[in-house]
Amino acid sequence: MKNHESRPARGSILGESGDEHSTADAVRSMFSAVAPRYDFLNHFLSLGTDILWRGAAARSMQSILQRPGSVVADLCCGTGDLALELSRHSAGTVVGTDFCHPMLVRARAKGSSAPNVHFAEADSLRLPFADASLDGVTIAFGFRNLANYQKGLEEMLRVLRPHGRAAILEFSRVHWPVLGPAFRFYFRQVLPLIGRWISSVPGAYQYLPESVARFPDQESLAAALRSTGFTKVGYRNFTGGAAALHFGEKL
Ligand SMILES: C[S@@+](CC[C@H](N)C(=O)[O-])C[C@H]1O[C@@H](n2cnc3c(N)ncnc32)[C@H](O)[C@@H]1O
Repeated sequence: MKNHESRPARGSILGESGDEHSTADAVRSMFSAVAPRYDFLNHFLSLGTDILWRGAAARSMQSILQRPGSVVADLCCGTGDLALELSRHSAGTVVGTDFCHPMLVRARAKGSSAPNVHFAEADSLRLPFADASLDGVTIAFGFRNLANYQKGLEEMLRVLRPHGRAAILEFSRVHWPVLGPAFRFYFRQVLPLIGRWISSVPGAYQYLPESVARFPDQESLAAALRSTGFTKVGYRNFTGGAAALHFGEKL
């Protein structure tokens, strides 16, 4: 996969390069540390646009969610915002999965009154779902943190039924000619300072722009979906490309 900078984008830049276990441990520790302030910082640093992006991601799954009995998994669900948004549109069941316990504790508390959403501790690279068992799979701002992007795509494809749909919401490359530099200044210089100040976690909000800079751009991620075997692949930019929603189907 091509990325924004020269480093190969095999997976998250945390941990020791090439060691998936150390990357997963580093990612889990980072999110355990930021979990108490995660929701507040998400909405504050994005001025609430993250809520709109997740809403659009959930609506993109509507045709699947509305089928009675449908099962959709939201991978790397964190504190559960997308899983809960999906459950509002669902005539079936939504399962949120994450491997970071403190994030899941918050997701479960937020979802306690929603009867059709469940949360489970699971690694997105080794999902506890049978082959071809899900109607849909989503992942919001989690894919970039996987230790191995290719394995992540293969696992998503494995668990989908034929005609099942995958949606990946992730930060991407901004295309605004004028506002792009201002956005990049904010994202790379201002956001890490505010994030560090409010979360008291050194590095976590420095990792955010650094990991986005090394993440595959819109076209490269779409190409990776196609080469993994997804069909009807496409993407939609949000806020000038600050985030992009990629989607694809299983044949
Ligand atoms: C930036 S948060 C996104 C949370 C949520 N989806 C959202 O939209 O706010 C990334 C999440 O991915 C989870 N994560 C990263 N790698 C994972 C993996 N291999 N398996 C399960 N969860 C993972 C982290 O624990 C964290 O909760």
